[in-house]
Amino acid sequence: MRVLVLPGDGIGPEVTAQAQRVLERCGELFGFALEFETATVGGAAIDEQGNPLPGAALKAAKRSDAVLLGAVGGPKWDDPRASVRPEQALLGLRKELGLFANIRPVRPYPELLDAAPLKPELLQGVDLVVVRELTGGIYFGQPSERRLGRNGREALDTMIYNEHEIARLMRTAFRLARQRRRRLTSVDKANVLSSSRLWREVAHEIRQEFPDVAYEDVLVDAMAMHLLRRPRDFDVIATENLFGDILTDEASVLAGSMGLLPSASLGEEKNRMGLPRGLYEPIHGSAPDIAGQDKANPLAAILSAAMLLRHSLGQENAAHAIESAVAGVLAQGLRTSDIARPGCAVVGCEAMGSAVVRALEAMRPEA
Ligand code: IPM
Ligand code: MG
Repeated sequence: MRVLVLPGDGIGPEVTAQAQRVLERCGELFGFALEFETATVGGAAIDEQGNPLPGAALKAAKRSDAVLLGAVGGPKWDDPRASVRPEQALLGLRKELGLFANIRPVRPYPELLDAAPLKPELLQGVDLVVVRELTGGIYFGQPSERRLGRNGREALDTMIYNEHEIARLMRTAFRLARQRRRRLTSVDKANVLSSSRLWREVAHEIRQEFPDVAYEDVLVDAMAMHLLRRPRDFDVIATENLFGDILTDEASVLAGSMGLLPSASLGEEKNRMGLPRGLYEPIHGSAPDIAGQDKANPLAAILSAAMLLRHSLGQENAAHAIESAVAGVLAQGLRTSDIARPGCAVVGCEAMGSAVVRALEAMRPEA
């Protein structure tokens, strides 16, 4: 089984190094062989080759069984007028690999409830998954350009969806709801946007195929509020690309930190195991302010590795073991600075990775 690691920029290399260690140890403990390959993408690839997504990296992704990505971007490449940007690596990978469904689970750890900015009683029992459309909408719609208009500089982006894109995303979300609490919330802005009205229309058609799933439509502005006021009420949340981007950063507050949230991006293409060849990445960014200081929280990357084992490599036991190991180290009181309460002892990125590896070893399955 071949895993491509794309460390990227900022804290990306630090957190993927810990996730790779955990994967390697899992392979030994659970008896499967992983072959790792690494490629440069993002700002690092702009510096090296003038291209955020070099052909070699894309090729390596296409021949891998799964891809683990750290993060891309940073102030060095932030010039708003630059035509090459690190983020193009991520968008290019998503599009080229056909990864239309981005799965972002949010389940606060009981041990961290008191570290979250929201009231613990509000967070108790929260267990939701956002299924974000990832290869359409305003992220990719054409035209997207800057030009000179009658009133000077103007710029536009296009939010466009076709029924095929909506239907496949909704089906993915409904199927996931079936494996969970059978509730689906579709989020749109149908009171204003045409693309959202089509979204809702198609969602209602697909809903007929899943009569056993309770369904509701919620407008995105209201959803932004409900997520903080009654997050427990939601099970699976399906939404378009930009709304999903925004709502998942918001939802990370429920978990206490972006440093804890993994994601899986899946499409229709299968790998050599006959499973989806996914891209797995933390939802957090490259955090340039703490890069290279061993301060980052590697748990989102490590939990992304668990999702990789589950969805792309069919190693459910190992995936579950990683998730238990993470819960274990948090229960032991280990905290990186993003989840530490004031005055509390903190560990670095590498020490956190080591603790997860030790926790895994301690629950070594019987051979
Ligand atoms: C995310 C990120 C990306 C996105 C950026 C880095 C392009 O915010 O994965 O949520 O907007 O999709
Ligand atoms: Mg985002």
